[in-house]
Amino acid sequence: MILPPSSENISRAADALRRGECVGMPTETVYGLAGDGMNPVAVARIFDIKKRPSFDPLILHVASAYDLSGIVKSVPETAQKLMQRFWPGPLTLILPRNTSVPELVTAGLDTVAVRCPDHPVAQDLLRHFGGPLAAPSANPFGRLSPTLAEAVEDELGGKIAMTLDGGACRVGVESTIVDCRGAGVNVLRLGAVSLEELERTAGPVQVIKNNTLVAPGMLENHYAPRTNLYLCESLEAGPLPPGAAGLAFSGGPANRQRKVLSSAGDLREAATFLFAFLRDLDRCGATLILAERVPELGLGRAINDRLKKASTGTASWGAAGWVLSQK
Ligand code: TXA
Ligand code: MG
Repeated sequence: MILPPSSENISRAADALRRGECVGMPTETVYGLAGDGMNPVAVARIFDIKKRPSFDPLILHVASAYDLSGIVKSVPETAQKLMQRFWPGPLTLILPRNTSVPELVTAGLDTVAVRCPDHPVAQDLLRHFGGPLAAPSANPFGRLSPTLAEAVEDELGGKIAMTLDGGACRVGVESTIVDCRGAGVNVLRLGAVSLEELERTAGPVQVIKNNTLVAPGMLENHYAPRTNLYLCESLEAGPLPPGAAGLAFSGGPANRQRKVLSSAGDLREAATFLFAFLRDLDRCGATLILAERVPELGLGRAINDRLKKASTGTASWGAAGWVLSQK
């Protein structure tokens, strides 16, 4: 059930959350599958609805930094700086976990991921609810993240109390995850806040690759459409193979089988449309999707990361046409 975010519906959603039910919640990045972050039963329900392995910890969402006191033990100086600069907004911080946080939220880790979303509907819901909300992206495990209320209901409708309609997500890719408890600033997941922006506030950062132990959600295969997707350098290299769909960064025609992320070549615009277009192409009846890599800077890094994780392999154009190779 998709509901407009009227104050009455926000109250209904908060009531459902208090009963331990789950609610589709818009955020500026992607829609979340929200549940009471301090209620182990509600958290277990999130894992069940998503079919998510329980070793993959969740992010706790708060209305403001003041609400962290009950859920983290301390906030290191660099984290404070980053919070001042980027909260509310699409940055998730890894902090020492307070023992009051259910173990299921953190998958037994001694840290907890926290984020303060800036979407007005998420803010309203958090304030009405009055506590932290655990919210993974509202998609079945490993699948594309939803950036529209309809996408949440398509896959999870019937299992959740409601989805609050917050419109299309402003950013379109998930939050950047940073761990700055130690000496350096470690980026565990590329995302909505670019490395360039982070470095302006926190100095040099390090991107941690293949970080499946600390953050199991960084698995190599994730964010995947059902149709096999192959990553290529340029779609313009040759005509699409018969029956194939294409995802271009900025060039060429746009139609049902061929989407262009941003004809102006704007990486922010491209991020906004990424998951929605992949979802459309997944449904257009194509035998495979060829997707073009975008420039590796700013939000482009997060887009390429998602495309790589969505892919089954790479495609290159040669004398014999497109050659596909598996990952
Ligand atoms: O933009 C977002 O962050 C969205 C919206 C809904 O807020 N949420 C989201 O949640 O992307 P999810 O569950 O799909 O991804 C959370 C990631 C997972 O990959 C998980 O492994 C990692 O955060 N994570 C959670 N707790 C962690 C911890 N204590 N240490 C390291 N990684 C953690
Ligand atoms: Mg996710």
